Amino acid sequence: MSSSTSNLNEIFTVRSDKCKYTEDTIISDFKYESTLVEGNVVIPVETKMQFKTERAVPKVGVMLVGLGGNNGCTCIAGAIANKLGMTWNTKEGEKKSNYWGSVMMSSTVKLGNDARGNSVFTPMKNMLPMVDPSQVVWGGWDINSMNLGDAMRRSKVLDWDLQQKLYENMKDIVPLPSVYFPDFIAANQSERADHVLTGTKQEQMEHIRKDISDFKAKHQLDKVILLWTANTERFACVEEGVNDTKENMLHSIQRDEAEISASTIFAVASILEGCTFINGSPQNTFVPGVVDLARHKKVFIAGDDFKSGQTKMKSVLVDFLVGAGIKPVSIVSYNHLGNNDGKNLSAPSQFRSKEISKSNVVDDMVESNRILFEEDEHPDHVVVIKHVPYVGDSKRALDEYTSEIFMGGVNTISMHNTCEDSLLATPLIYDLVILAELCDRISVKKEGESEWEQFHPVLSLLSYMLKAPLVPNGAPVVNALFTQRQAIINVLRACLGLGPENHMSLEHRFE
Ligand code: NAI
Repeated sequence: MSSSTSNLNEIFTVRSDKCKYTEDTIISDFKYESTLVEGNVVIPVETKMQFKTERAVPKVGVMLVGLGGNNGCTCIAGAIANKLGMTWNTKEGEKKSNYWGSVMMSSTVKLGNDARGNSVFTPMKNMLPMVDPSQVVWGGWDINSMNLGDAMRRSKVLDWDLQQKLYENMKDIVPLPSVYFPDFIAANQSERADHVLTGTKQEQMEHIRKDISDFKAKHQLDKVILLWTANTERFACVEEGVNDTKENMLHSIQRDEAEISASTIFAVASILEGCTFINGSPQNTFVPGVVDLARHKKVFIAGDDFKSGQTKMKSVLVDFLVGAGIKPVSIVSYNHLGNNDGKNLSAPSQFRSKEISKSNVVDDMVESNRILFEEDEHPDHVVVIKHVPYVGDSKRALDEYTSEIFMGGVNTISMHNTCEDSLLATPLIYDLVILAELCDRISVKKEGESEWEQFHPVLSLLSYMLKAPLVPNGAPVVNALFTQRQAIINVLRACLGLGPENHMSLEHRFE
């Protein structure tokens, strides 16, 4: 049978005068073509630049905050199971470890066409040298002292037979004690908090810094990345003189200021240690003082809130509707879940953090179409989350999208999604780590400049995995999923001197 697509699974090389391989680097010439619009005049702009990618993949350690939680222990379990090539039995038969759901590990990208015009795809992980989650040294903190073998059992996420096989590998991993400020997470979490640091905020921040440097030294790591997958906190108040600049924030930590959250303590410790910090939860960890500090220290930060299920779908569906010239007028999202995340979110101020991060996800798409929406007009958008213990980690998401269509017609799409919450979120942890680490090895030099420049410390390229993407001041927020994905692919292509994927397929459109 003939096929019009094939897959190239081996590492490939680019043969072009625009892409030079040295022992240590890949240096590419790239012409960035953008379009400037001035009033009703549109001007194409070309910027010549070079990309430089360090080829050696460093030895990476990742420290998760919330290590004993459902995502935390599933993440470690998944990496171990893949490393050991584990298989397990279910009533459906034997299952094999995989990294499905990780865009970096399990998706492919179109590389080009072969001589007969057939599309050739390659795994995204083959585009450039990238860290493999199975090779990462994992560690981290939790306010609960349970070892990861028991935490895995408590989470009830993985199949029982796999849990049995993993238990021996997990039972000796115990989280480090953590920073716990009860005022920031739901009161119903207090029974878990048996493993907490004491002392002033400054002392606790220094303790975390030492944990990071000890972890790095103990495992002889080249690089450490921190990622918050602990409970959702309430929003911290942003106040002048408290957390608005790096100086004020560091002083606030010194004087034990109440509005400095645990996640901000971790972010500050991480930045001061020169380690990328990623926030997988919705709260405003990155108050202006943290962003200021990251910029000053030139350390990457990325957030907020994993984009795993309902929001991922929303950022596809609303893009489709608005892009099709259809006007969504009401979006109503119900969730119920029974895991500890759901329990924490049953408290009003933690729910509010989630509600905010889930609500802004359609804004860019709505604002892009003034045929459908007047200025400041938005669809009604309501998000409800309820804790229903019985369903455990198997989260239910019910969405109703009502849209106005041609000539006064109404179209209603209703969706019901049932999924293991942590099996959707965990691959995003791998993706965030892989991409953040790679970005740290990429630098750019614009024509006429002498210095190589790194990505902006607010690492917005990670937006694909995040519900409420943090972007550099003044940059537009992009939520549309495939636009975010294409940005990643085109940056990877640029690093190899390949033009952006343009989907024009002109070779097939003429005789
Ligand atoms: P979980 O409740 O099972 O785990 C959180 C862990 O953090 C718990 O073990 C808790 O003891 C620990 N913790 C709380 N405060 C801490 C602190 N200050 N330091 C260290 N550890 C602390 O929650 P799960 O399901 O793992 O989710 C983690 C986070 O990811 C939540 O904020 C959730 O909203 C967010 N998230 C999860 C998604 C998903 O699972 N699909 C999607 C989007 C975001």
